[in-house]
Amino acid sequence: MKVLIASSNLGKVKEIGEILKKIDKKVEILSLKDIFDEVPDIPENARTFTGNALAKANFLAKKSAGNWILADDSGLVVSALKGNPGVRSARYAGEIKDDKKNIEKLLGEMQEFVEEEQRSAHFCCAMVLVSPNTEKSFAAIGKCKGKIAFEEKGDGGFGYDPIFIPEGYDKTFGELSSSVKNKISHRAKALEILSDIFKDVLNGGEI
Ligand code: IMP
Repeated sequence: MKVLIASSNLGKVKEIGEILKKIDKKVEILSLKDIFDEVPDIPENARTFTGNALAKANFLAKKSAGNWILADDSGLVVSALKGNPGVRSARYAGEIKDDKKNIEKLLGEMQEFVEEEQRSAHFCCAMVLVSPNTEKSFAAIGKCKGKIAFEEKGDGGFGYDPIFIPEGYDKTFGELSSSVKNKISHRAKALEILSDIFKDVLNGGEI
């Protein structure tokens, strides 16, 4: 089973690949760079994570025949900021994606929220799997609850990882190992929901 991961974010592709390999070693991961000489700019203008994941999957389904497509859209939802940065997580500080600037902006906005309970947040991931002939598609949502740290810690992961402390831990995702993150992340939870579909496809079952 060849699965094209619809993302040019290498951190995400690596994470999704690691999680899928745990579901079944037979899954072969393709990234956009394996398919395109020049990776296209995939439109993501929807107002929901699921809308954007579907838009990415459908866009790529038209351009890449024969592969399963796995598209995700994810982001950080901060309660004190009325759900921001949300679907705009990647470009929160400006049109050019810049993780460092996004973190600076978010920490600045969080300065007035000094109580622990004011800093609650969650990562959300909408994951869409589309069959090669686009006849079938499946969607799942995964969430990872936690809180926003007062300062950046750790240099693991990507995006907002250095300022996100998952529930049940006292370290940020930037400090925790990728194996811990891959067990509890929003992406892991969404893929877990889709894992039965993967297993059925790999075993030649009708889905
Ligand atoms: P997408 O590529 O459009 O889904 O944008 C996702 C953005 O949300 C990323 O660029 C990050 O800023 C943020 N994000 C999503 N998942 C994570 C994560 O696991 N850790 C840190 N940041 C994340």
